[in-house]
Amino acid sequence: MAGWILGIETSCDETSAAVLRAEGGVGSIAGHVILSQDVHRVFGGVVPELASRAHVRTVGSVVDRALADAGIGLGQVDGVVVTAGPGLVGALLVGVTYGKALAFSLDRPLLGVNHLEGHLFAPTLEDPDLAPPFVALLVSGGHTMLLDVPAWGEYRLLGQTLDDAAGEAFDKVAKLLGLGYPGGPAIDRDARRGDPEAIHFPRAMLDDGLDFSFSGLKTAVVNHVRKHPEVETADVAASFQRAVVDVLVTKARRAAAEVGATAIALGGGVAANSLLREELLRACDADGRRAFLPSPSMCTDNAAMIAATGWYRLRSDGPTPLDHGADPNLRLPVR
Ligand code: KG4
Ligand code: ZN
Repeated sequence: MAGWILGIETSCDETSAAVLRAEGGVGSIAGHVILSQDVHRVFGGVVPELASRAHVRTVGSVVDRALADAGIGLGQVDGVVVTAGPGLVGALLVGVTYGKALAFSLDRPLLGVNHLEGHLFAPTLEDPDLAPPFVALLVSGGHTMLLDVPAWGEYRLLGQTLDDAAGEAFDKVAKLLGLGYPGGPAIDRDARRGDPEAIHFPRAMLDDGLDFSFSGLKTAVVNHVRKHPEVETADVAASFQRAVVDVLVTKARRAAAEVGATAIALGGGVAANSLLREELLRACDADGRRAFLPSPSMCTDNAAMIAATGWYRLRSDGPTPLDHGADPNLRLPVR
């Protein structure tokens, strides 16, 4: 089985399209465009209505450019994959509606896929040999999860956040420190100038199970900055980042040990964090496990991972009916 797969991602503030040359297992990227929306910057966070409007304005040209990069015409597309959820409903609807119209007019299969499953497939695009079983640490703006992945399509939830997602904590602390949006990359950059030992922030539930909690850490940062207004921003950023990464790596390691996993895969926007990547690699080296790390640009939202997921789902489940909608609360099919 082979073909040209067009993927479209519009779940949040990236408008992205990708063309995969799919053959057998996962495909290779033939064209890929990621347009990060700039309109949200002045608001310090994503404004859903503005995100939808920006997707409407740009989705057509983003798709056209991805096709042109791949050197194919629309008529050569063999399947259209869209992110069906989770995400912002108005933003998702733009991609879903555009994809449906394309699939219908081309008379090709439509695939509506789960954005979180997309993050799990991201590393396969750079390392075609990457395959389950592994433990996955999925860390994005809306989710923080540890999953046991014995096979593609089989996801067992080992732990998750009880309050804020890791990316949400990065974004909120960056806003507090005046580092702007998106917060994760800003903290990552600023932390390089700071001392990660300067302030000891709490590591909630560190010795306890596989769930996470980040809201206390955020409050601790707020309290510290209020009490010590003269504090170096870079020291706060570095100490906060160190606390988050300590917890993420400790729990990923514990999860892998409990399951007996020989590999840990990282996914989601926070997986682009330089300290998290470094520390996870170090831990995997020490424990004799493989670390599957997508390159930073494949960690954050992109359509190539959506196309790869669609290619897998097309072969495992067949197409999605054209009356299928967008679901902002779509859950990963975990057991
Ligand atoms: O996966 P993603 O692009 O979108 C969602 O599905 O949520 O993740 C976005 C999140 C944001 O919270 C952003 O601040 C965070 O990933 N992020 C980072 C870094 N790059 C992006 N967090 C820490 N360090 C980074 N380098
Ligand atoms: Zn994402």
